[in-house]
Amino acid sequence: MNIQKQMLEAIEAELQKQVARLDQPLTKQFHEMLTYHMGWTGEGAGSDATGKRIRPLLVLLTTASCSNDREKDEAARSPYWLRARSAAAAIELVHNFSLVHDDIQDNSDKRRGRNTVWVNWGAPMAINVGDALFVLANQAILDLTEYYPADVVRQAASILNNSCLDLTRGQFMDMSYEERNDLGLDDYWPMVGGKTSALLAACTQIGALLGNASEAEQDAYRFFGWHLGLAFQVQDDILGIWGDEALIGKSTASDLVEGKNSLPILYGLGKQGKFAQRWAEGPIQLSEVNAVASQLEDEGARSYAEETSEAETKKALECLDRANPRGEAGEAIRQLANMLLKRKQ
Ligand code: IPE
Ligand code: IPE
Ligand code: MG
Ligand code: MG
Repeated sequence: MNIQKQMLEAIEAELQKQVARLDQPLTKQFHEMLTYHMGWTGEGAGSDATGKRIRPLLVLLTTASCSNDREKDEAARSPYWLRARSAAAAIELVHNFSLVHDDIQDNSDKRRGRNTVWVNWGAPMAINVGDALFVLANQAILDLTEYYPADVVRQAASILNNSCLDLTRGQFMDMSYEERNDLGLDDYWPMVGGKTSALLAACTQIGALLGNASEAEQDAYRFFGWHLGLAFQVQDDILGIWGDEALIGKSTASDLVEGKNSLPILYGLGKQGKFAQRWAEGPIQLSEVNAVASQLEDEGARSYAEETSEAETKKALECLDRANPRGEAGEAIRQLANMLLKRKQ
């Protein structure tokens, strides 16, 4: 079995274990809401419904690629990276908490090809599901104490919590931007840095910390995750307008209809052409989404976003080179970064 597959299995098992803290007799339905969102139960459950799990994979691949304890590993016959699994789960739980709340915030009815939690059970229940996932994440990271000294666990928890603060700042910017019409491309990066890159940077920084990397290597891994996050969100913005709904599992009309200030849209506004004119006239209707998306593409927004995503991926790979990832995991991280740039979902 290749290393990614092994890791994905370990991640799923660990996530199930963490979420099972809420599997209690009087509140079975509550636990089901969480297992539904995680993709394990309910209609359409299965690998498409779990999401890609790229964040926990990045944690474990990073730990494995900088681990200096490979010999001990072999002696123990258990991979070194396995010790980092509760941190990997913690990050994926944070990500899922943010998605459950984000779908309420963005009024999105589809996620991973299925109804969002708020559509099934209402926004008040969905807020509670998100809260539970967030707290489970904080419990999960503490489970590192089984394998790591208290100071390392404290550092990992602190990196994770700081990334959550950045994430909420990013979400604040994202939502407050919906009300504004004075924004330019420069306003985009702090928002995306917060809402997406902070957590990806936490993945690779925590992964490196748990792999016993030097401070310089930890830094290089952190910047790798940061730029990868920027590239990733730009790609998400492209898919959010021109993607295939069946593949991405969320509506491609919503970024235009909801008036999201994604990168292609901000670029189009800067062009001050037909797209910007239509945008200024008020909300885009569902019936015009295709025409508006084509107009935006004609004005160069799609190729600009594609070039930007490529440039950020390149920066990410340069940081990765500095981090000097080793072995099979190191190769797998490089492949993952390149694959994310070409992703269709
Ligand atoms: C979606 O992230 C939210 C963004 C930060 C763009 P992913 O595309 O990683 O979502 P899943 O977990 O695979 O569904
Ligand atoms: C992604 O936000 C970031 C978080 C969920 C914190 P978006 O709103 O851009 O992502 P999607 O397109 O709904 O996945
Ligand atoms: Mg959002
Ligand atoms: Mg959203």
